[in-house]
Amino acid sequence: MNPTENPTDVSPVRSYQSSEAPPENQIPALRVRDLSFFYGTRKVVEGIDMDVQQNQVTAIIGPSGCGKSTFVKALNRIAELEGKVKVEGQVEFFGQNIYGSKVNLNQLRRQIGMVFQKPNPFPKSIYDNVAYGIRLGSHRSRADLDEIVEAGLRGAALWDEVKDKLKQSAFGLSGGQQQRLCIARALAVKPKVLLMDEPCSALDPIATMKIEELIEVLRKDLTIVIVTHNMQQASRVSNYTAFFSTDESRIGRMIEMGPTAQIFMAANHHSTRDYIEGRFG
Ligand SMILES: Nc1ncnc2c1ncn2[C@@H]1O[C@H](COP(=O)(O)OP(=O)(O)O)[C@@H](O)[C@H]1O
Ligand SMILES: [Mg+2]
Repeated sequence: MNPTENPTDVSPVRSYQSSEAPPENQIPALRVRDLSFFYGTRKVVEGIDMDVQQNQVTAIIGPSGCGKSTFVKALNRIAELEGKVKVEGQVEFFGQNIYGSKVNLNQLRRQIGMVFQKPNPFPKSIYDNVAYGIRLGSHRSRADLDEIVEAGLRGAALWDEVKDKLKQSAFGLSGGQQQRLCIARALAVKPKVLLMDEPCSALDPIATMKIEELIEVLRKDLTIVIVTHNMQQASRVSNYTAFFSTDESRIGRMIEMGPTAQIFMAANHHSTRDYIEGRFG
């Protein structure tokens, strides 16, 4: 998006998806087949099939409680940190089964980073927030760390705002800066995929616009899956959109997925059109 544009301009036709379609011979970054997810014995999502294309932005939209957060957290196996869960079906990350027995979970969660609804910086300095994952992974010289921290902050479009106060607490930053810091923290460990679960829902329109601009830059180097409640945001930032909803037994399903322009202008299912047009959810 052009920074001079008004952030409240919500024209759903402005998008860039068709001009940069992925090459046809590329494997998806994530390939999900017949995925079902249970908390305890309760099934919350069922039968999800999805290909997440490399270097594209995939938006997930749908009413509250349809399993969007659960689904994205199943993609880097953090959902299971919440208690007893069961997963059926397959998720492949660049061809590797992430639910296989030999998977290194720490490595997986670095390669598939995540940013949450509410910015969640650690109670540490700005510098230490970004260096955190690197320090866990291996010993690095100070010079190396400095370089990685700067690259992470630049990648998250935050460097210029914080370069003179790297030692200060992350809690002194605004909400939008904290969210970009969380993005910098995820970028520092060089993920291939970034999952964003309603990353702008706690932010004002200007901070939201900065994150949206960042998404467009980031996708040149990685693959993004973003859950959003904001239809205009989905239409502005994403190349593909998936609509999730619940059935009568409250189980979440993917109703349809397609290029964002098609979902927004000519969805196949009436429930998708109703949701997009604000008649439901
Ligand atoms: N940790 C959890 N334990 C048990 N049930 C959960 C947990 N997290 C979410 N749920 C339930 O799973 C369903 C899907 O939730 P969620 O994935 O958060 O949906 P969404 O992000 O679309 O609002 C909801 O019914 C919710 O109450
Ligand atoms: Mg959610």
